[in-house]
Amino acid sequence: MRIRNTLCFGVFLCGLTPALARGQAAAELRDRPRDARGWPTQAVRAGHGMVATDEELGSEAGVEILKRGGNAVDAAVAVAFALAVVEPAAGNIGGGGFMLIRLANGKTSFLDYREVAPGKATRDMYIGKDGKLDEEASVIGYRSVAVPGTVAGLALALKSYGSMKLGDVIAPAIRLAEEGFPISERLAHEFEQERPALQRFAVSRRIFLNEGKMFHPRDTLLQPELATTLKRIARNGAAEFYRGETAHMLVDDMFRLGGLITLDDLAKYQPKVREVLRAKYENNGHAWEVLTSPPPSSGGVAVIEALNMLQSVPLKGWDDVESVHLVAEVMRRVFADRAAYLADPDYSNVPVAGLTDPCYAKEVFSTVDPQRASSSKTIKAGNPHTCGVAASNAPSPETLVSLGEGPHTTHFSVVDAAGNAVASTYTLNDSYGSHVTCSAGFLLNDEMDDFTTQPGVPNSLFGLVQSEANAIAPGHRPLSSMTPTILLRDGKLSFVTGSPGGPTIISATLLSILNWMRLGMEPQVAINAPRFHHQWVPDRILIERSFPDSLESALNARGHATHRVGHMGLVNAIAIDPASSDRLGAADPRHDGAAVGY
Ligand code: DON
Repeated sequence: MRIRNTLCFGVFLCGLTPALARGQAAAELRDRPRDARGWPTQAVRAGHGMVATDEELGSEAGVEILKRGGNAVDAAVAVAFALAVVEPAAGNIGGGGFMLIRLANGKTSFLDYREVAPGKATRDMYIGKDGKLDEEASVIGYRSVAVPGTVAGLALALKSYGSMKLGDVIAPAIRLAEEGFPISERLAHEFEQERPALQRFAVSRRIFLNEGKMFHPRDTLLQPELATTLKRIARNGAAEFYRGETAHMLVDDMFRLGGLITLDDLAKYQPKVREVLRAKYENNGHAWEVLTSPPPSSGGVAVIEALNMLQSVPLKGWDDVESVHLVAEVMRRVFADRAAYLADPDYSNVPVAGLTDPCYAKEVFSTVDPQRASSSKTIKAGNPHTCGVAASNAPSPETLVSLGEGPHTTHFSVVDAAGNAVASTYTLNDSYGSHVTCSAGFLLNDEMDDFTTQPGVPNSLFGLVQSEANAIAPGHRPLSSMTPTILLRDGKLSFVTGSPGGPTIISATLLSILNWMRLGMEPQVAINAPRFHHQWVPDRILIERSFPDSLESALNARGHATHRVGHMGLVNAIAIDPASSDRLGAADPRHDGAAVGY
């Protein structure tokens, strides 16, 4: 892949060709100390800016913009467009997501560009005449697609907090789509894995399966239609996507091939600015503040409820059975509440204040036996209330049934030289979304499956049974677990985090916060540390394969069922060294993520 020299104007490495800059970044990534798995054990350190994403080319796109004088929001928008090219499984312009921004001056904002259900969507649209859920229709093909929000959200972020023009920040993505980039072993493998679903859709088959001939590692992936679409967006702004030629191309596909999205749906789409969720803690002699995601994310509420419960627990680490037991019991209870209460806040009365109140947490935590596992059969959602004020109109609990670990979504973090920070998670839902690529050259989401597709029945991808409040309705946003989060220590930026992983997003993000804020781990160690997850039902703890057998046996002896998984979550985080203010980039080695700084 070639990168034009004209785009490197930065403070450091300026005047070097980008290829050399890239080589230096790669060398830095290579030279860090590693453990027996080959995972780096120290974060990447830089004095100015840092970008941590799943893909080195995505991180470099962000650093390129920082070096040109862009701020963290400019860089984040550039990263999001670039990942839409180089990480087709999850990076997107055909999906949606969340962006949490904290500026160096203390201002914070949460941008919600979650997809919405099309106007023609109905509550029972995936239920057949026989009353059974059509498991495929909500995850593969045109009917699984919700109205995309990404382009509107990125344009809003740039307009509100960026300093550069859309054309400038989209430039790296256009270059990557037009000139192509080398296909990695992992990407070639992914195309092979996704072949059965991708080959059902002509444009997906042509672009990602090389017309069925398949790609090999080091082949070049060219995406000319996507490049053309990105150029139109660069020229005409988000209106291009929602009202322009791109909108017409998308809607023509929908009309011809059985999708629901209309020009009216696209024209009506609005990203939303929401109030950031906040919670304060005293730990290790420091005042911490957690800034996180409000509904329609369930993640921020869950993370704060969990942190509140764990505030009184002396955590020792994840080789200590008691610590794992207590966190798992907390997760169990938090997920029971998630299933009952969380939904689109524009249409549902979500009891956020009650769920995130420390006195409610105390009450729920009092049901935890410090020695023995509870049974999820007896643990139900609580009655969330703020101290002294009963939330009596809370809806009744539903059940969350099982877990299928979702394959993709992507989280990236950016901190610039001035200390502005962005945490963003965005998604097509499933890996490669609906697997449909529209004629404008981009993949479309299958976010409709995040709704309660049939009350009382698990949804197809994550096996989540959710509440009636999350039922499909035109214009509603499906409930999400995405949890971009930023931590302050003594009022200063300290940690930027988040993860993909469906429901395991909440656990992976929570554990990264505990590892940094409570256990004081070095940032890369905090990301590498073994992860576990309990989501109430099914009643078992998922544990990553790196957990020692002895710990699994000790959990079993306390009455926990356990289930091993390869890995959970992909946390691309940035910490700030409190002594030097250096940015410490810790990308997740579970996916060869890359933190690139300068
Ligand atoms: O918004 C959500 O919670 C899901 N659509 C996220 C999907 C996901 O993380 C899949 N990946 N691992």
